[in-house]
Amino acid sequence: MPQFNETELTAAVIRSFEDAPDARAKFLLQELVKSLHDYVRRTDLTFEEWNYAIDFLTRTGQKCTDIRQEFILLSDVLGVSMLVDAVNHRDRDGATETTVLGPFYVGEHKVTPHGTDISADLPGERMFVQSRVTDLKGKPLAGVPVDVWHADDDGFYDSQKANYATQGPSSRARFITDAEGKFHFRTILPCSYPIPTDGPVGEMIIQTRRHAMRPAHVHFLVNARGYEPLITHVFMEGDKYLDSDVVFGVKDELVAKIERRTDAVMPDGTPASEPWHLMTYEFHLKPGTGMAPAPLGVKVAEDA
Ligand code: BEZ
Ligand code: FE
Repeated sequence: MPQFNETELTAAVIRSFEDAPDARAKFLLQELVKSLHDYVRRTDLTFEEWNYAIDFLTRTGQKCTDIRQEFILLSDVLGVSMLVDAVNHRDRDGATETTVLGPFYVGEHKVTPHGTDISADLPGERMFVQSRVTDLKGKPLAGVPVDVWHADDDGFYDSQKANYATQGPSSRARFITDAEGKFHFRTILPCSYPIPTDGPVGEMIIQTRRHAMRPAHVHFLVNARGYEPLITHVFMEGDKYLDSDVVFGVKDELVAKIERRTDAVMPDGTPASEPWHLMTYEFHLKPGTGMAPAPLGVKVAEDA
C-alpha cells in the first residue's frame, strides 16, 4: 500500500492523470491539482474550512437554474472571468475592449427593427443609442447581429422579475447592422445595480464587507462571421462605481459620455417630450474566429 507525505501525494495525483488521452485536459487537470494542493498546504486548511467550502460550492450549484448561473457570478466576483478574458485578448490591435458576459445573457434575443424602444413599458429617463460596427480599418460591417441587454431603472434584468415567464423579454433585443454597419434603438437610461445577493455568492460579498454594485452599463455581444465575437459593455461616464465594480469589469475605453439632450426630436425623428440621453459608441472587430456563447435557457440546436 503506497503511503504519501504531503508533497509525494501531489506527485501521485498528478501521475494518476498520466494516461489521459486528451493532452490539454491532462495538462489542465494536473495544473489544477498542483494549485489546489499548494493552496491546502499554504493555508493549513482545516477540516471545518474544507467542509465549509464544499457546502458553499454545493449551495452555489443548487442556486443554478436554466436562467440563473451562480457559478458565473462566483467566477465574476473572484476576478476569474476577467482574467480568462485578459489572457484570451492580449493583443487588441485597436479592436474594442472586451469585458465579462455576466449571468444575464438569457432567453431569446429577437431580431428587432432599428429605432424600436426596447424598454417601452418601463419607467425611466429615455435614451437613444446609435452605434456602428466596423473592422479595424473602419470598414463598415453589414448584416451583423448585435445582441443588447441591460438592467431597468430599479437595477433588475427582465429575467430576475417574477413576471418574466409571462411578460417575456424587456431591455433585451437583437439588431442587425445596416449597409453602413449602423444600428440604433431607444431604451431607458440604465442605473448602477447590485449583483444578486440572495445566494451564496452575494452572502460572501456581504459577509466580507465588499459592496455588491456594478456601475451602470449596457451589454453588447457583436457576432460577425470572420471576426472574433465581441463581448463587451458600454459604461456611463460619471457613475460612482466605475472605480470599484464588484466584478472588476471596467476598462477606460468602454466608458462613454452620455449626452443629456433637450431637442424635441431624437436622431431618427421620434418626438421627445422630456429631456433624453444620447449614447454614441462604435465597435471595432478583430478578424478571427470563435463561437459566441448562446444565451442561457435557450436550447442550442444540435448539429445534424
Ligand atoms: C452583469 O453585468 O449583468 C453582471 C456581470 C457580472 C456579474 C453580475 C452581473
Ligand atoms: Fe449587466
